[in-house]
Amino acid sequence: MFTHTDLARLQAQSLKMQGFIRQQTYSPQNEKTLRRFSSWEVAELIFKVNQSTMRGRLAADPTLPQGTVEADGRQHWYALEEINELRRRLKVNRRSLMPYRPAGKRAMRAAIANFKGGAGKSTVALHFAHAAALDGYRVLCVDFDPQATLSHSMGLSDVAEEYTVWGIMARDLAAETERMNRASQGAESGTSLPQRRLPASITDMGLADLRAADFIKPTNWPTIDIVPSCANAAFVEFASAQYRHLNPEWSFFAAVSRFLDQLPADAYDLILFDCPPAIGYQSMNAVFAADMLYIPSGPGYWEYDSTTSFIGQLSEALEDLSRFNGLVPAGTMNLPKAFLDLRFLLTRFEPNNDLHRAMQQAFLKVFGDRVTEHPIEMTRAVEQSGRFLSSIYEIDYRDMTRETWRRARASFDQAYAEFRTHLCAAWDQLEDER
Ligand SMILES: Nc1ncnc2c1ncn2[C@@H]1O[C@H](COP(=O)(O)OP(=O)(O)O)[C@@H](O)[C@H]1O
Ligand SMILES: [Mg+2]
Repeated sequence: MFTHTDLARLQAQSLKMQGFIRQQTYSPQNEKTLRRFSSWEVAELIFKVNQSTMRGRLAADPTLPQGTVEADGRQHWYALEEINELRRRLKVNRRSLMPYRPAGKRAMRAAIANFKGGAGKSTVALHFAHAAALDGYRVLCVDFDPQATLSHSMGLSDVAEEYTVWGIMARDLAAETERMNRASQGAESGTSLPQRRLPASITDMGLADLRAADFIKPTNWPTIDIVPSCANAAFVEFASAQYRHLNPEWSFFAAVSRFLDQLPADAYDLILFDCPPAIGYQSMNAVFAADMLYIPSGPGYWEYDSTTSFIGQLSEALEDLSRFNGLVPAGTMNLPKAFLDLRFLLTRFEPNNDLHRAMQQAFLKVFGDRVTEHPIEMTRAVEQSGRFLSSIYEIDYRDMTRETWRRARASFDQAYAEFRTHLCAAWDQLEDER
């Protein structure tokens, strides 16, 4: 017979193995570090300029970052900080290398969401974050999934649950309840409405003293930060139900949106949400805070089936929020919730697989131009790089068959480029910062 003690023992064994894998893959300090990028990558894959043009420009100005040269190699290798300095200082054919950002707008927020575990949400979030950072954008990720795949692959494995989306929600409940109490006290002098009290278990957590920035952690990429998650944050779904009971007028779904509104508009360019495989309090916060919705789906029938029920349930859940009309305090998001863009992205797609192609046709037939042009291909490189808790951008191409690496990278590059096109179009439509 097996009890909770056996499960705990099995977990302890597994955690030991996890620690071992991390030690094998990360630096000796057990910290994830970011590799350097070769002149070839910087010129052709990142800046999209000719290698010899680039070499000429670097030779002409010795004050530009020159990278490092390995003992037996001729290639120069650049840290991301150096790449970003080159991007700021170089113009090629009078073209700036800086990525597009419309003036006077806050960061764009995109949610990667679907029901099914294994749809590729975390893989897409990780690769889009890395591709955007290589593109020169400053990225904030929010991990809404207590499975914490994104947090772990970004090197954060030791996270306290107060510093997750759960902490953000509890802090928001406290702040909103106080605001409502003040408002009802102020209303119609003398006849102040009953005050709502929160239990000490919430008010004593010290969350009110935390600044928004306290929830944000650096990653191994200098221009990517994350609000991480951890397994203990799984009870946020239970806690949120209890919180709603304590204050039924609390617009629980807007907590993360309000949190993001507290960040300086210029702190980031792109805010990416990785969602849990369920519709609940956390994913409602993610979709409500999002300007764009990206729905990844595998290319099988059951995945199509599951995507169909996801959009149905999401639609119902968003419609349900209408009872909060007029109750959501002014912020950047309003009810009814409207996305500036919405796309379906096929993942783990095999172009030579007839069944996958048939499924793609079905998606196109049903969802039309909402389906992205470039699916993300199934690739050995991602299966392999996943094992090293890394994206294809982080893996050094010399550690793999070059062709495998290039194909995988090309697939993510294309999907990202298309994402960026949609993102920038939506960015232009975004209301100016007030
Ligand atoms: N394009 C791909 N090629 C190969 N394997 C992939 C690809 N996308 C995802 N996977 C693998 O599928 C599994 C589930 O992906 P994941 O992104 O964690 O899904 P989700 O976040 O939706 O649960 C992981 O093991 C991942 O490495
Ligand atoms: Mg995931």
